[in-house]
Amino acid sequence: MGHFTVLQGPERLETFQVDTTHEAYPAIEEAASHLCERDTPVAFPTETVYGLGADATRSASVRGIYAAKNRPADNPLIVHVSDLDMLKSYLGGDDIPKKYQPLIERFWPGPLTMLMPNPEDSRLAPEVTAGLKSFGARMPSTSLALSLIKLTGRPLAAPSANASTKPSPTMAQHVKYDLDGRIELILDGGPCEVGVESTVVDGLCDPPALLRPGGIGIDELRKCPGWENVVKAYKDQGHDGKTAPRAPGMKYKHYSPTARVILYEASCADGSGGITAADAERALSPEDGAADTCNANVMRKVGVIRTKRWTQVAGLHSNQLSPAVSKEDARDGDDQQPGTSYQVLQGELVSANGEVRGGLLDIDLGRETRGIAQGLFSALRELDQLGASMIFVDGIDDELDIAGAVMNRLRKAASEIRV
Ligand code: TXA
Ligand code: MG
Repeated sequence: MGHFTVLQGPERLETFQVDTTHEAYPAIEEAASHLCERDTPVAFPTETVYGLGADATRSASVRGIYAAKNRPADNPLIVHVSDLDMLKSYLGGDDIPKKYQPLIERFWPGPLTMLMPNPEDSRLAPEVTAGLKSFGARMPSTSLALSLIKLTGRPLAAPSANASTKPSPTMAQHVKYDLDGRIELILDGGPCEVGVESTVVDGLCDPPALLRPGGIGIDELRKCPGWENVVKAYKDQGHDGKTAPRAPGMKYKHYSPTARVILYEASCADGSGGITAADAERALSPEDGAADTCNANVMRKVGVIRTKRWTQVAGLHSNQLSPAVSKEDARDGDDQQPGTSYQVLQGELVSANGEVRGGLLDIDLGRETRGIAQGLFSALRELDQLGASMIFVDGIDDELDIAGAVMNRLRKAASEIRV
């Protein structure tokens, strides 16, 4: 299935029309009937990450999501709508809160989730909100997602389509890898454009709060009337366990590959030219992480994810780097990572005196923040699949735009952070 043209314009916000002549229409129609008739969820692409959708009005259907993902029942789901009329019909006769008007005009359809009051006589299945008095609403921007919701005729409850704790999926292959055997249908719309999840905001409180950083940066929110003083209501690092986070999902372990992630903050001067001598020593030492490989004969592999500062292999030593071929690619008979804009290079990890100590995997996500966000989860997954037991990541300054979301996800994925 190819890419979709996204139609823009105010009519899109009101009543979205499905293009029945589109080549993907039959597949979307099949997925929509599945959602109406069956209780196993359907994976579909949004502009942020792949979602795992179910009819938000049916309890049996929504329970299917929690079962497929192994998701804790106290973590509420985002409700995806195709147009404003659909959203309004779930507000118990009330209007969309005025506070959200400027955000809707500016960012919808798009990577922003807003908390709406959930009426007493809500038409949403109680499992969607996990007992909260609000629900998160989002209008995604891919026409595939919008068409699927419209054809289903119901809002779709959808978390990211990964197994709980794993990085969110940004390609159909990621969903298949995590959920094969647990779900029956994946709509493949190619790689997601944004690459990190939506920003979650609460405008029902004063001052309004940012519950999860995502595709829309806090600097962008602050340009909107009524949102100048939006406060951060999330923590980047591990939850303290004392106070409940306002987005329940933010307290769980998240975004973690199997490998040990060692993150260098942009503010870490020692890491400006690459990883430190002490970390390089650890990368070469066989003990650290050997438990992960079970087999002493298996040489450890070290991954490096480069962004704005580091040059190739980031201070480690290697000989003859060449493009790595992952299992996915091998099946496609192609040596490029499908749908990703980066290449994985692979070589031997050698000590300063030329002794081979293991394998080295190098990914350059580029210097553009948006490109880094787009490739991040995919790169973490790719390095895991290629067998890295340790991944060094060059962090970026988190002040502006989507960088806040990139660093939030990396800090959560990291076992160690160099500041
Ligand atoms: O981009 C996205 O948002 C993707 C795509 C599929 O739309 N979805 C996604 O869903 O990331 P999920 O379930 O992985 O994350 C939803 C986050 C969680 O942190 C959850 O706790 C929070 O939103 N959330 C949902 N409903 C909420 C509510 N009523 N109050 C507070 N937080 C809520
Ligand atoms: Mg998620």
